[in-house]
Amino acid sequence: MPIQLPMAQKDLTFAVTRNENAKTVEEREQILADPGFGQHFTDHMVDICWSEWGGWHRPRVQPYGPIQLDPAAAVLHYAQEVFEGLKAYRWADGSVRTFRPDANAARLQRSARRLALPELPTDYFVDSLRQLIQADADWVPSAPETSLYIRPFMFAKEAFLGVRAAKKVNYYVIASPAGAYFTGGIQPLEIWLSTHYTRAGHGGMGAAKTGGNYAASLVAQQEAYENDCQQVLFLDAEEGKYLEELGGMNVVLVTRDGRLLTPESDSILEGITLDSILQLGRDRGFTTEQRRISIDEWREGVESGEIVEAFACGTAAVITPIRQLRNADVEITMPEVAEPVSLSLREELTGIQYGRVEDRHGWTVRLDA
Ligand code: PLP
Ligand code: COI
Repeated sequence: MPIQLPMAQKDLTFAVTRNENAKTVEEREQILADPGFGQHFTDHMVDICWSEWGGWHRPRVQPYGPIQLDPAAAVLHYAQEVFEGLKAYRWADGSVRTFRPDANAARLQRSARRLALPELPTDYFVDSLRQLIQADADWVPSAPETSLYIRPFMFAKEAFLGVRAAKKVNYYVIASPAGAYFTGGIQPLEIWLSTHYTRAGHGGMGAAKTGGNYAASLVAQQEAYENDCQQVLFLDAEEGKYLEELGGMNVVLVTRDGRLLTPESDSILEGITLDSILQLGRDRGFTTEQRRISIDEWREGVESGEIVEAFACGTAAVITPIRQLRNADVEITMPEVAEPVSLSLREELTGIQYGRVEDRHGWTVRLDA
């Protein structure tokens, strides 16, 4: 990794350029009334430059708009990029909070290490979110279960065609008002089990939040849509037997005797929603098991009545129950449960995120002040 000069450790002072062509109040209100997911963007974005010789510099808040790239920019050829996803929530008192941003900062650093990109210090990361929210605070919706989805990302901007880590990188933050990720809201999901494609393998990039993993998931996700499923589940690349994760979410199984089971692997993304749910589960007296889970264990567990629920979790998905997992050879249908653990965990998690439930773990962080 290149050595960063001492100046990179200085406090960042953001230069703010207001967007003269910002959306009108009416335009914004119309978008916020029905935001969908990831279709509309706020008026500003954050941009911080990094170079091998100058470290992190030129922090800016500027009007949202196209990024100029040299056609030889390394990211366009070798996909050296990483990103994050977290949300800002409007509380009843009007304030704006986010959830465990230090965990997203740490994951961005781990992803960056894997992709030979520079590590953005945690305080720069949190400051970048604060800067954007302070410019675009009016974009945080207030209707129930809506939020502002924040997408920090970083990529190799240096123009050259040799294959090596870039010496010029930019970090950006954009934001997009969000309703439910799935059009059916929290209707139980149908999941396609991919056996033909894998997402990541041992020693690969699976644990990093990098575009390549999502590119690898797209044909399998298309297969899911063709089979009327909303998401795809990937199995391990070596044996094709063990659960990994969905295209954009982690997976959890719930047992009759109060255990939360979730796959352990070095090729899945360490979800912050997952980690929070496991903590909330332990607080309730559930046992949590992060270990290899085979597809046979899931099927046999449902047949015997031992596994009673399955759900998907992630920032975008929050917690969404799974109704069925299927492909040409496998069909696992989850039983109907009177009081699903998934929905009560969802209620508690979103309660903390929106300030309705006491934040006993100190997870929420104010961004608008
Ligand atoms: N797995 C993948 C592949 C994801 O894209 C996401 C979403 O970010 C997750 C898991 C869940 O991570 P988190 O809960 O931090 O959003
Ligand atoms: C997120 O939940 O933040 C993701 O990146 C997943 C994607 C499905 C939007």
